[in-house]
Amino acid sequence: MRIAVARETDAAEPRVAATPETAKKFVALGAEVVVEPGAGVASGILDADYEAAGAKVAAGGVKDADIVLKVRRPSAEEIKSYKKGAIVVAIMDPYGNDAALKQLADAGVAAFAMELMPRITRAQSMDVLSSQANLAGYRAVIDAAEEYGRALPMMMTAAGTVPAAKVFIMGVGVAGLQAIATARRLGAIVTATDVRPATKEQVESLGAKFLAVEDEEFKNAQTAGGYAKEMSKEYQAKQAALTAEHIKKQDIVITTALIPGRPAPKLVSKEMVASMRPGSVLVDLAVERGGNVEGAKAGEVAKAGEVKIVGYLNVPGRLAASASALYAKNLLTFLETVVIDKKEKKIAVAWDDEIIKGTALTRDGAVIHPNFQPKS
Ligand code: NAI
Repeated sequence: MRIAVARETDAAEPRVAATPETAKKFVALGAEVVVEPGAGVASGILDADYEAAGAKVAAGGVKDADIVLKVRRPSAEEIKSYKKGAIVVAIMDPYGNDAALKQLADAGVAAFAMELMPRITRAQSMDVLSSQANLAGYRAVIDAAEEYGRALPMMMTAAGTVPAAKVFIMGVGVAGLQAIATARRLGAIVTATDVRPATKEQVESLGAKFLAVEDEEFKNAQTAGGYAKEMSKEYQAKQAALTAEHIKKQDIVITTALIPGRPAPKLVSKEMVASMRPGSVLVDLAVERGGNVEGAKAGEVAKAGEVKIVGYLNVPGRLAASASALYAKNLLTFLETVVIDKKEKKIAVAWDDEIIKGTALTRDGAVIHPNFQPKS
């Protein structure tokens, strides 16, 4: 059993899919681990660190691998070098990328999309959306603080008092909760909103104030899978009216709202941005999926008058060492739970397990995931 750790080919991706710690565990599971040279450098891991953990470092290591570990979906060029039947595990970004899924199927690899992990208790330790969103939520507050020209905590000094910053978090999933906790630790006055009723108690338990249109639709906004639904036009209008009044008084707004498989909901209009005081900062964590904030530009800190809109891409990658450590652990748990037979020390994919059914995109030349069936 040969496991390859690929070097990411996208220059914007500093994360890596295995750490020396997880490589060592794979070796203990009987695998030969091959790491492409330089794969961990952008995450602060040297080739020698992998070697010390028992891995081999070799160019083209993915070629004969039974399992290829990646952060991002491999390009058509990369797939060419994979062995037929190889298991490829990555964040596959499958929605709207039918052609790329077909390439994976045509290459005969078994591709697994880690972001489709079912949200069940047993799979929590394999949930890459959670592990990465948690770091993104933290980093969003740090990025906001960096762009903000004032202090976040209240400071009473001999030279006068600095008021505490007002921070508003929109979307209270994993990222939003960590953003609330981080902003609170920095001493800000924090409010938050979401469309899922379960979030109210979570927000309050972190010492922040909850703000939302709590009507009948709100009561039913959570799907069985724990995600938000797309809200009606009427709800969105009520939400916008409430938000508009609140945003005027905020110093920092952090948006994280997403709906799986859909564009991000538009929550902050350009009028709302214009109503904020000079020097205010918005951070749009949903920018890769179309953005929650009007005027957010992917990969940039945009200016709208004297208000900044931070739209960094790959925010977990801005904490690459931490993000890689958690992502690598997610992959290790996934492989040892449903891909590798630990006793026999060989590959034995549990095709009937809901974790595999939820994440498997392609197998034996076909796209097998029900959400991505080619339209006939
Ligand atoms: P997400 O990244 O899909 O969305 C972020 C947040 O945006 C969500 O809280 C969502 O309700 C909110 N949102 C969507 N539309 C909105 C709108 N129009 N206005 C305001 N907010 C809006 O969600 P994430 O972070 O992936 O978490 C979703 C839920 O799943 C959470 O309750 C989380 O605790 C739960 N979860 C469960 C796991 C498990 O049991 N294994 C693992 C991870 C998360």
